[in-house]
Amino acid sequence: PAERIPVVCIDGPTASGKGTLAAELASRLGYHLLDSGALYRLVGLAAEREGLSTTEADLREPAHAERLGRLAAGLDVRFTPGKTWLEGEDVTEALRTESAGMAASRVSAVPQVRTALVDLQLQMRRLPGLVADGRDMGTVIFPGAPLKIYLTASAGQRAQRRHKQLISKGIPAILADLLADLEARDARDMNRAHAPLKPAEDAVLLDNSELDIEQSVQFVLKRWHGQQAFP
Ligand code: DC
Repeated sequence: PAERIPVVCIDGPTASGKGTLAAELASRLGYHLLDSGALYRLVGLAAEREGLSTTEADLREPAHAERLGRLAAGLDVRFTPGKTWLEGEDVTEALRTESAGMAASRVSAVPQVRTALVDLQLQMRRLPGLVADGRDMGTVIFPGAPLKIYLTASAGQRAQRRHKQLISKGIPAILADLLADLEARDARDMNRAHAPLKPAEDAVLLDNSELDIEQSVQFVLKRWHGQQAFP
């Protein structure tokens, strides 16, 4: 049964380094990788392309929320190594923008959207195992997972990392704006009624403000192997 397949959950706020940590862990453990944020980003992008509004006011309209839910349920998405395709179009780059992240945060508060994406996420639990990156991996999607990490870093640190990342890609960015956006996104993700961002009761908290990637990877691997040895 799927419940026996190991899952490592990595939840936490935006720009905490979840994506990097999850990808590195999946590669070292030889596990599959679920980037659940990409699914919400895809819904935001698909909505934009269909001309469906993603403003908070419109999303509160029940009929509009239903429409978004149907869009999420019928998402024509394909993942190939390193690339994501929406209706046959390569949207890998488009998904990573700040505005795609903000739109994802808005549509992810819609219960119909979250429900529509549940099966897609559960299907990713395949042998030999899964590393799942998101906001509600440990609390809602894989509550029985044997290891749940709640990854955080100070807002200042996270804004600085995001800034460095964008500048290195040649994308102009203003630190103060990034910090404000990041705090707005955290607040929305933590305060929504459905599957809010919060640590699972049995999550291990990891603040990586002062750690580099390798140190974070080692922290999780040590937990994982320790647990495997003494189940
Ligand atoms: O991790 P990310 O930045 O790609 O996520 C984008 C948004 O999607 C995030 O602000 C909230 C939402 N999200 C969610 O609600 N649940 C998840 N499991 C993952 C992401």
